[in-house]
Amino acid sequence: MSLSMAIFSIQRFNPEKDNVPCYKDYELNVPEGATVLDCLNLIKWTQDGTLTHRMSCRSAICGSCAVRVNGHPKLACKTQAADEIIGGRMKIEPIGNAKVLKDLVVDLELFYSKFQKVKPWLITEGSENNKERRQSPQDFHRIDAASTCIMCACCVSDCNSWAANEKFLGPAALAKAQRFVDDSRDVGTLKRIKDLSEANGIWDCTHCGECVERCPAEVKPMDRIISLRTTSLKMGIWNNNGARHVRGFVDSIYKSGRLNENILPVKSMGIFNIPGLLSLIPVGIRMFLKGKNPPLIHKHIDEMDDVRRIFKRFKK
Ligand code: FES
Repeated sequence: MSLSMAIFSIQRFNPEKDNVPCYKDYELNVPEGATVLDCLNLIKWTQDGTLTHRMSCRSAICGSCAVRVNGHPKLACKTQAADEIIGGRMKIEPIGNAKVLKDLVVDLELFYSKFQKVKPWLITEGSENNKERRQSPQDFHRIDAASTCIMCACCVSDCNSWAANEKFLGPAALAKAQRFVDDSRDVGTLKRIKDLSEANGIWDCTHCGECVERCPAEVKPMDRIISLRTTSLKMGIWNNNGARHVRGFVDSIYKSGRLNENILPVKSMGIFNIPGLLSLIPVGIRMFLKGKNPPLIHKHIDEMDDVRRIFKRFKK
């Protein structure tokens, strides 16, 4: 077996002794074919028994070994160490957007609590509780991607909306929500989608796409969120900022041929929503002071006929 020497810079934090985390370097002969988890285990078993990390299945199934490797979350058991050694070094840290309990172990209570909020179980008619509920392969296909989630929290680790607002349900829980909203056997769709359209739900995703990049499975959480938004609009749930934003956006472009960013926040908030509109004033002042306010007159979109053709195609 061939070995290659590498230095692992691992974030350490012991809440009983440390005020802030620090990094400790470990030199390790990395065996050929070793995963990042194999290396963490070797360091713990042969060099420093105090190093604390999580693992269970070692097969990319349980989701417990997620850590940040060179800045981004990965499943340690699924990641080849050789692929991550850059200039003879690898940096390992706990996943982001979670409180560190010790070394690489984070508190996932908040993460799990979001799943409870989306009711991750089938809602069925009371009288049919003992009946087998069958599903066609076509119907299963609609929830197949979301069903592959292993709840590792890699998506949440790099989620920008979560970083800005911890109340945001987050990509993992919303993907789980799609798995039940689109389940042909579930009868709670309307209530589910109404709840998800509230603040901190489907409309709070900013489309940064980090969750799609970081998910080690096939979930593509942002795509699941877009699917939920589409369902919400199709079911006529327009009384929320996100849906009004969509309508304002489309109206602005389709009718006037330009995206008026001054009117859009007003339309999103609702023109009769006085407290909501007043809440925009401090934001507007901050934007003005930082020179971020949009121009008063917006220029027309070039090739507007093409844009209208796209809209018409979508409407069909
Ligand atoms: Fe289970 Fe890595 S140890 S997913």
